Amino acid sequence: MMTPAQSLSHVLELFQEHFGTAAQSRAFAPGRVEVIGNHTDYNGGTVVGTAIDRGIAVAARVRPDGKLRFYSDTKSSDGIVETSRATFAQDDIPTWCQYPLGIIDEAHLRGWPSEPVGLDLTIASDLPEGTGLASSAALEMAVVGALSQLLFTADMQPSRGALVEVAHRAENRFVGMPCGLLDQTVVGFGKKNGLVVLDAAINKSVSIPLPAGIRFVLFRSHISHALVDSPYEDRHRECRTALMGLERFVPGIRHLARLHPADLDAYASVLETRPAMRARHVVHEQRRVGAFLATLSQNDLVAAGACMTASHESSRALFDNSTPELDTLVATANAQRGVLGARLSGGGWGGSMVAMVTDEFEEKHGESICDQYEELFEVRPHWWQSSAAAGMVSERL
Ligand code: GLA
Repeated sequence: MMTPAQSLSHVLELFQEHFGTAAQSRAFAPGRVEVIGNHTDYNGGTVVGTAIDRGIAVAARVRPDGKLRFYSDTKSSDGIVETSRATFAQDDIPTWCQYPLGIIDEAHLRGWPSEPVGLDLTIASDLPEGTGLASSAALEMAVVGALSQLLFTADMQPSRGALVEVAHRAENRFVGMPCGLLDQTVVGFGKKNGLVVLDAAINKSVSIPLPAGIRFVLFRSHISHALVDSPYEDRHRECRTALMGLERFVPGIRHLARLHPADLDAYASVLETRPAMRARHVVHEQRRVGAFLATLSQNDLVAAGACMTASHESSRALFDNSTPELDTLVATANAQRGVLGARLSGGGWGGSMVAMVTDEFEEKHGESICDQYEELFEVRPHWWQSSAAAGMVSERL
């Protein structure tokens, strides 16, 4: 595991080694855990996350000739990938290049300066892909951070919100994944020892302090998830169908997450089974996020943890985005000393489990969870304790 400072210096060495010259800017963006608020973001709800202590570093340099050249230390077998804005659609480029390309394309659409911009870019990642820790958003935010340092002077830098928007639009429009605002927001606005609370209906986020003595431990199930090919789009559609079905009965309702549970009870029978189940999850998850924040502010950590576990149960039973591996991790974690609550984190269908723990949770408790998992699935999960970390940082060199 590398610290952000180590990743930032490693990515400069990579740049020198592969492009034979020095980088002009660099950035580091952390991964994130979703603490509570599963699939509420694209339903106009509230979601709570925190940036973690692993992430992705990017180093960049402008090229005058319009060529785009990318190198990633985790994809070293692809070597240096070369393309350009004019030819990328025809070029045979690996999937991971979609993320930097998406940022460059979005920056171009917004009329960012220094056209035509060519770029050399190296990527150093300490954040495994497919683990539900937002490696896509971390890559996008690191690229947009390094790029904005190259294209704007210090006093003209776009706001943090604008960078988050570029990354989010690149993912929705260029990569084609209809994700909500959670990942890019938490990666962009993370605070050390803080939680990011996002109201996705109005795209506003605030940071609140994490109560003293609370930590998050992360367990990676061995089921990798890739959201682009997962049922994520199906859920997105089912939620829209539910909203459209209910609109006739609840005039003026714009977001599924904002529906009152009593209105859902009154009208759910007009919906087909699946949209009705998804709606039930989203509407009650929104209430659980509220209860989590309220109990946390009263320092009732046991009640806050119970909200997380209830969230997992709802994801499993109503949203159908858990797996037996994640269910096992949640159940075994909840039986350990010091665990306040546990749930799947992020999109689901594999990826990671997050548990909120007190100081009573020790190394041996984590190992015991792994032992039980290994007995059932014959693979040992990877786990670590994460501090709540700061969001993306970038600098011109
Ligand atoms: C993924 C998406 C987020 C959010 C979560 C589920 O992480 O990128 O926007 O929808 O799934 O809550």
